[in-house]
Amino acid sequence: MFLAFVFLLNNKIHFDDIYMKYNFDEIIDRNNTDAIKIELLPTLFGNKDIQPMWVADMDFRTPDFIFDAIYERSKHPILGYTTPPDNFAKTIKNWQYQQHQWNIEEDWTGFVAGIVPGLSFAVQIFTEENDEVIIQPPVYHPFIHVIEKNNRKLIFNPLKIKNGLFEMDFDDLEKKITKKTKLLILCNPHNPGGKIWDEESLKRLATICYDNNIVVISDEIHGDMALPGYYHTPFAKVSDTASKISITFTAPSKTFNMPGLQSSSYIIPNPVLRKKFKKFLDRNELIGGNIFAYKATIAAYEKGDNWRKEMLKYVEGNIEYVIDYINKYIPQIKAMAPQASFLIWLDFSELGIPAENLTSFIVDKAGLALNDGRMFGPGGENHMRINVACPKIKVENAMQKLKKAIDEVLSDKA
Ligand SMILES: Cc1ncc(COP(=O)(O)O)c(C=O)c1O
Repeated sequence: MFLAFVFLLNNKIHFDDIYMKYNFDEIIDRNNTDAIKIELLPTLFGNKDIQPMWVADMDFRTPDFIFDAIYERSKHPILGYTTPPDNFAKTIKNWQYQQHQWNIEEDWTGFVAGIVPGLSFAVQIFTEENDEVIIQPPVYHPFIHVIEKNNRKLIFNPLKIKNGLFEMDFDDLEKKITKKTKLLILCNPHNPGGKIWDEESLKRLATICYDNNIVVISDEIHGDMALPGYYHTPFAKVSDTASKISITFTAPSKTFNMPGLQSSSYIIPNPVLRKKFKKFLDRNELIGGNIFAYKATIAAYEKGDNWRKEMLKYVEGNIEYVIDYINKYIPQIKAMAPQASFLIWLDFSELGIPAENLTSFIVDKAGLALNDGRMFGPGGENHMRINVACPKIKVENAMQKLKKAIDEVLSDKA
C-alpha cells in the first residue's frame, strides 16, 4: 500500500517537473507512406484534400529509442526465424509493476500480433456460435466486428452519461445477461470517451461477471496513457475474482506510436483460461512474433517512460486547447474531457444536423476527417471523435475550420 502511494507520488512529481526535451511541434509529411489516415480519405470521405484527424495513431515522430532498437537488430545480416528474446516477458512484467503496480508472473504473458486479432481469438476460444457477447457502446468499433464476423450474438450494455462522463449501467447489464452470455469485452480506459474506469466500477463488473460465469476481456491498449493527475487501474488487479475471469491485452503500440509493428501482449492469470488461449495460438501457428516488434517493445518499456510523460503533457495541452476553444467559440458542441489518451468525444446534437449528414457536413464545410460516432454503436449518433495527437498548430487550424463551418450553419438558421 505504502509502496503504491510512493509510486503515485513519483508519477505526479515527474509529470509536474517535466522538462520538454522532445519536439512534438515538428510537422512530418506522411504522404506516400501508405498511412491509413491519408490513403483511405478518398474512399471513406470522398475527398483526399481534407485534414485527417481520425485514425488513432499519432502524427508525432516515433521515438528514437524505438528506431535505435530496430537499427541495432538490422545491423546483423540475417533476419531469420526468431524466438521471443529472453527478457521479453520480464520487460512486460516490470512495466506493469512500474506503471500500474500490477504484479504479474512472467508466464502469464505472451506475444500477440495486435490486440484486435487477440480479441477475435478470445471470442473464438471462449464462446461458440450464437453465444452472446456483451459490449458497452459507444465503444471502439472492432469490438462489434470480432463478435459479428464470428457469428456470435452482439449484446449492447450502453454506457450512461453522468456529469459529462461515461459510466457503466449495471442494472441494464444484469438484465441483459442470459444463460448464453459467455463473454464481455471491456475497453479500459475507454475509447472514444477517454474515461478511466474507477476501481469500484471494475470490482462491481467483476462480481457480476464472475457470478454469471462470464469471461472478461479487458482491452488496455490506452492504459499507459492516463493523462497527468489520473491513474489507470488494470481490470485484473481489482480483485481475485477479476483476476480469475480476465484476459488482458496490452501494447506499447498506441503509446509509443508504433502500431505498424503490430506488437501486443496477453496477460492471463488464470491457468485454465491461459491454457485454452495458448492452445489456440499453438493450433493456429500464431506463436511467433516479428523480429522488430519484440525489440521495439522491449525498447519502449525499458526506455520510454520519459518520452511517454512528455507526450502526454503535450497532448494534455492540445486537449485543454480544444475544450477551451469549443467552450468559448462553439458552445453548441459539447466536448467530453478525456482522462486518458488523445481522443476527444464531441457531441453535435444541439446543432440539429441529422446524424446521417454529419460526416459530409464536417468534410464539406470544415475540411476535416473525423470518426463518425455512429461507427461506435448506439449512443454514437450525432457525435464525432477527434484525434489530437498531432502538432498543436494542426489542432488550432482544425478548430478554426470547425468554428467557421458551425458559424455558417448558425447564420443560415438565423
Ligand atoms: C481500444 C482499442 N483497442 C485496440 C486497438 C488497436 O489494436 P491493434 O492495433 O493492436 O490491433 C485500438 C486502436 O485504436 C483501440 O483504440
